[in-house]
Amino acid sequence: MTNAPEGGGGVLGVVEDAAVVVENGVVAWVGPRGRAPQGAEERFDAEGRALVPGFVDSHAHLVFAGERAREFEARMSGLPYTAGGIRTTVAATRAASDDELRGTLRRLVAEASRSGTTTIECKSGYGLTVEDEARALRLAGEHTSEVTYLGAHVVPPEYADRPDAYVDLVRGPMLEACAPHARWIDVFCERGAFDGDQTREILTAGMARGLVPRVHAGQLGPGPGVAIAVELGAASADHVTHLTDADVDALASGTTVATLLPGAEFSTRSPYPDARRLLDAGVTVALAADCNPGSSYTTNIPFCIAVAVRDMRMTPAEALWAATMGGAKALRRPDIGHLAPGARADMVLLDAPSYIHLAYRPGVPLIAKVWQAGEPVT
Ligand code: NIG
Ligand code: FE
Repeated sequence: MTNAPEGGGGVLGVVEDAAVVVENGVVAWVGPRGRAPQGAEERFDAEGRALVPGFVDSHAHLVFAGERAREFEARMSGLPYTAGGIRTTVAATRAASDDELRGTLRRLVAEASRSGTTTIECKSGYGLTVEDEARALRLAGEHTSEVTYLGAHVVPPEYADRPDAYVDLVRGPMLEACAPHARWIDVFCERGAFDGDQTREILTAGMARGLVPRVHAGQLGPGPGVAIAVELGAASADHVTHLTDADVDALASGTTVATLLPGAEFSTRSPYPDARRLLDAGVTVALAADCNPGSSYTTNIPFCIAVAVRDMRMTPAEALWAATMGGAKALRRPDIGHLAPGARADMVLLDAPSYIHLAYRPGVPLIAKVWQAGEPVT
């Protein structure tokens, strides 16, 4: 499956009995095996199994310490999810050494790549001081170039009675310290986190410093996040579980991708976003795992695909596209998410004859082999 429909094979560009030629980490040729150019130095026989583009996980929070299993357990007995738990992780993260944070980060990145993720975005947001946010971004940058400054995750306890002073810090000295280490800026725009005016101020300051905006919007209730994301030309509005008709229209008319994070609804026992409504309106949809210790402690994109198909009314093809091309669009990366000539050779071999098995066989470890820029990932 190529995600390059111009080569035929429907929207996903499915090629039966296919061959892929990789040169210097890049796809050089893809098509029916019988027509493949000869003379490869090294060959790999997939033995009839499906090959798909590597998953692009465009939303993750991997720099943290500790875990919140008890909070999850309490939710499963009926307590609601609140953003307040973020402060528990902030305290643990501030107290952790660089090497402790590196250990967790390395483990989660390895876990993600074993389940087929070949590009992962990573946010700060559990430091919430100038030093701790800059540290989180530096550590994230050891694993990915898709690094996001999320100083505006919540207002930390020491600023509880002067949130505007925290906003000034986030768009002032903290931004100065963080901008050199990040590509993106994100704000958790939600009741209990940051309101519309604060979100706009912070994102605009980040843009003036060369960062590109993305927004956590409409996770816990409807709010101004989606409208602001579209207005500022954000790359993505994420979660988007609660949407007004005006939000859907705005997304459909703009360039902002809607990134759905079903792991969060699963782990907070909340209603899933309505992917069908977005797709039918012509919105570009991405799927990501939102790995974090509070609302979605998973790195597993096949799991997200299965949930999206079963409970969010996406077809298996739409879900796989969203987890590959959708993620690439949400990260504005034309080089990944597909397997056409010129794309980075990020590939996942499934222990299955077709991509449909990703949703059809939920929970089964179907990832047989992963290549990143043509190199096998071990
Ligand atoms: O994307 N919504 C805000 N941030 C995370 C949750 C963080 C946490 O609970 O620790 C999310 O779901
Ligand atoms: Fe998130």
